[in-house]
Amino acid sequence: MSLRGLINSRILFSVIIISMFGSVLTIWQARQSVEREVNSSFNLALQMMDLGFSHLSRTSMTEYEWLQQISAIQHTRHLHISIFNEEGEEVEWFVPDSIEDERPPEWFVRAVKTTYPSANYDIRLADGRLKQIIVRADPLDEIVETWEESVAYFWSVMTMIGVIFLAINIVFNSMLQAVRSIVVGLRRVESGQYGRKLPPFKISEFDAIATEINHLSDALKLAKDNNQALARHTMQIQESERRNLSRELHDEMGQSLTAVKAMSTAIRQPGADVAKISESIADICNHLAGVVRSMMRTLHPLSLADLGLGATLSDLINEWRRRYPDLVIKLDYDERLDQVAHELAIHVYRIAQECLTNVVRHANATEVTLVIRQEGEHTSPRVVMRIRDNGQGGESSGHGFGVLAMRERVENMGGRFRFESEAGKGVCVSAWMPIIEKSDNE
Ligand SMILES: Nc1ncnc2c1ncn2[C@@H]1O[C@H](COP(=O)(O)OP(=O)(O)OP(=O)(O)O)[C@@H](O)[C@H]1O
Ligand SMILES: [Mg+2]
Repeated sequence: MSLRGLINSRILFSVIIISMFGSVLTIWQARQSVEREVNSSFNLALQMMDLGFSHLSRTSMTEYEWLQQISAIQHTRHLHISIFNEEGEEVEWFVPDSIEDERPPEWFVRAVKTTYPSANYDIRLADGRLKQIIVRADPLDEIVETWEESVAYFWSVMTMIGVIFLAINIVFNSMLQAVRSIVVGLRRVESGQYGRKLPPFKISEFDAIATEINHLSDALKLAKDNNQALARHTMQIQESERRNLSRELHDEMGQSLTAVKAMSTAIRQPGADVAKISESIADICNHLAGVVRSMMRTLHPLSLADLGLGATLSDLINEWRRRYPDLVIKLDYDERLDQVAHELAIHVYRIAQECLTNVVRHANATEVTLVIRQEGEHTSPRVVMRIRDNGQGGESSGHGFGVLAMRERVENMGGRFRFESEAGKGVCVSAWMPIIEKSDNE
């Protein structure tokens, strides 16, 4: 069921319940008020009759006098007064003005009507004749008034409900339009069209949702652009590493192997200096072993698996200290991190390596501190890295991939990464990643 259908059906249901409850209440109130009104008129009439009769001697009352007496109350509302002779025939009556034309529906009269009182008076006239007066309550004119009031009340309630219904539908229409635009916006985000933004909405809640979707779209666009750039960069690195490898293989290995091959031919010549040639072959082999080791170190920090993260980091830092003696490099390392999985250790190592490269390349710093610790043992154990230098900091001067790649590494591990750079105060790189313990086969 659509939202509009749901709301309309709920409103209709509420209107029916309110109308039923209102009708019952109105009829109950009408019944009470008719009863009260009719009873008070009846009691007033009786009091007037009693008062009138008490001033007159009933036995000596003339017909004119008691008729006068009755005429005094005949205009009292809600009363039906009948006069009967000695034979029991109704000789005269006084009724309220005719209301036949405006008579309310019979069901309403029956619903409102209760039993009403009546009173009899026996009057002996001066000439000795006996007459009987019967005074009865007649609620019909009061019921007519109540009916008219109820109808007016009913229509005013109906008009009010109509206006509310209309107002809800108008607001609802604009809400539905906003929802439709938001759905279209979400579909665009889903299909990767991040360029088109949602417009501002008049309703603040929808405007907040639209703003968030626009932010989400920006963030996804940035992530997509970064991923594409990183993928391109990775391919470029791969290609350049392949080129380097092939050059090394060509320059070092190729030439050395050719030399060994030439020497193997020379050694077969009569009078060849076998000892010297074999010494040359050994030299070439030593050189080749060095080349292979250096290529392997470039491709992968072997010592990480053999020596552990702490020792490999110390090794790296010592190498940097040797190359840049003017730069003070401090390391605060938590030995417990030697137990983390190789996958995590390599990320920590590469981040430290990239930060040191950046410090040397961009910071113009005299000191850099690397804090690499384990935190949150009892809640969520994580490795926390903070690498801070005292260099120039400030705006980025280039569009490299080092920071981007560090962020990717950390976020892919489910962690958080922050790069803070303040002019004159240096750069602080912070990262945390959830700890992954070494598995049994590592
Ligand atoms: N320690 C630092 N001090 C000052 N500026 C820095 C520092 N580290 C990074 N930057 C700035 O941030 C930019 C981005 O660094 P990033 O490592 O991503 O790229 P890069 O070092 O220029 O190139 P590469 O892709 O080779 O790493 C740098 O060009 C530099 O302007
Ligand atoms: Mg860099």
